[in-house]
Amino acid sequence: MMAMAKRAIAPKTKTQSFYDRIADVHNFALKVNGYRASVAKYLRSLDLKIDGESYVLDGGSGTGIVTLGFQDAGFRPKKTVAFDLSINSLKIAKEQFRKENRVDSRKISPVQGNILHLPFADETFDLVLTCGVLEYVSLDDGLKEMARVLKPGGNLVFIPVKPSLVGSVLEFLYKFKIHPVKDVRKISQRYFSIVGKHRFPLSEPIGWSKSIFLLEKKEAAAN
Ligand SMILES: C[S@@+](CC[C@H](N)C(=O)[O-])C[C@H]1O[C@@H](n2cnc3c(N)ncnc32)[C@H](O)[C@@H]1O
Repeated sequence: MMAMAKRAIAPKTKTQSFYDRIADVHNFALKVNGYRASVAKYLRSLDLKIDGESYVLDGGSGTGIVTLGFQDAGFRPKKTVAFDLSINSLKIAKEQFRKENRVDSRKISPVQGNILHLPFADETFDLVLTCGVLEYVSLDDGLKEMARVLKPGGNLVFIPVKPSLVGSVLEFLYKFKIHPVKDVRKISQRYFSIVGKHRFPLSEPIGWSKSIFLLEKKEAAAN
């Protein structure tokens, strides 16, 4: 059973207000640039050991593109939590989950909050997915919190923005800070083993700005 801790309602941050304003446009951009298909293709290639008893977190889900890509890849966990700061992004996500014939939206819960204070007990999730979110927070704090809610041996599919021309344009437009690759490697290894590294082909738009680290939570990490 997934335990959710009680939490106080926090005042809106600048990032939340920003994404609440641009949720529609951002979602449209993601729909036309093929991110969902690229994420699905990559996830399908992994042996993630997710079954009907598994719990999955999409940390910083935005409008739900990664959650949908995960569903497209054929995974059907017991519950997926789409977690984000932006209420408007989560509203769009919820609507998209409901409209998809192949998705059982009752098994996907949108939850609003801050990735640095996840309202879940330690070792709740079998898998965490996160794309383009830890650029808004301290990498160490973000990865530590994700490690906390992951079961030992569970995977984190970490899709950071990579240093690149397109990455820099996005950094300016979306007001985040790209983490240098050496920091991603070094800080990831405090809590996780790096078990895979993937480059999206440049023929896919996601490849212009993102890379993927497949991480596995170390035993006794984040304690
Ligand atoms: C670039 S979007 C990525 C959304 C989604 N993962 C995707 O790939 O389409 C960044 C998302 O991170 C969310 N975000 C930023 N800081 C956050 C925080 N501290 N806690 C939770 N979500 C956050 C924003 O609201 C936004 O939806």
